[in-house]
Amino acid sequence: MTIIEAMKARHSVRGFRKMQIPAEIREDLNALAEKINEETGLAIDIIYDDRGGFDSRLARYGKFENVVNYIVLAGDKDEDIDELCGYYGEQLVLHAQQLGLNTCWVGLTFNKKLVKQLIRPDQKLVAVIALGYGLTQGSPHKSKSIDQVVVTKGEMPDWFKAGVEAALLAPTAMNQQKFVIGTIEGEPAIEMVGRGPYRYVDLGIVKYHFEKASGRKVL
Ligand SMILES: Cc1cc2nc3c(=O)[nH]c(=O)nc-3n(C[C@H](O)[C@H](O)[C@H](O)COP(=O)(O)O)c2cc1C
Repeated sequence: MTIIEAMKARHSVRGFRKMQIPAEIREDLNALAEKINEETGLAIDIIYDDRGGFDSRLARYGKFENVVNYIVLAGDKDEDIDELCGYYGEQLVLHAQQLGLNTCWVGLTFNKKLVKQLIRPDQKLVAVIALGYGLTQGSPHKSKSIDQVVVTKGEMPDWFKAGVEAALLAPTAMNQQKFVIGTIEGEPAIEMVGRGPYRYVDLGIVKYHFEKASGRKVL
């Protein structure tokens, strides 16, 4: 499965089968998380076979079912921590999809009190990602159109269109897709509009999709 195919196949899945993730798949995911931590200084951790993280009223309210594996996205309280977690968390999400797993980004509806105990007190817990073999593969989200998010007028080069299409496949908090994409002196730029609490996490996720599909670095 290519990364673009993974973007198209990925949808949030909140209910999981009672099937353990095999050792070789864990090793593969753990190796990617370690590589990211080494390169970025983030403190990403993957927890397996633990009910605690989604054992709460909020998680049940969020319709989560049988979540026993999750990725914890945390790191030093730097200015860009949310965007970094978005960018690298989505790399893990798409890799998990390529390995046959399903995921759901979760900012709110998990047992935050318990998961906070897993990280250092001086670090920020940004979000978690539920992980496992889904009861279903989920379904495509309702999406804005290309015209609704592109702000630069004129003919769109193929690489730019590919980037925008991939950006529209990205998960965003409450599916708000509150971003605009344009070019500045020929280079792509993405900005969030509005004030949602997860907007910089969304920005990192959307940038990752755009960059992988377009082959261009976003400003
Ligand atoms: C930063 C972030 C936080 C999210 N938080 C939650 C959450 O707390 N509970 C939940 O059920 N879904 C959460 N989601 C999942 C979104 O609702 C979902 O990604 C969006 O509706 C788009 O659907 P899709 O992922 O199937 O494409 C979150 C997504 C993102 C990106």
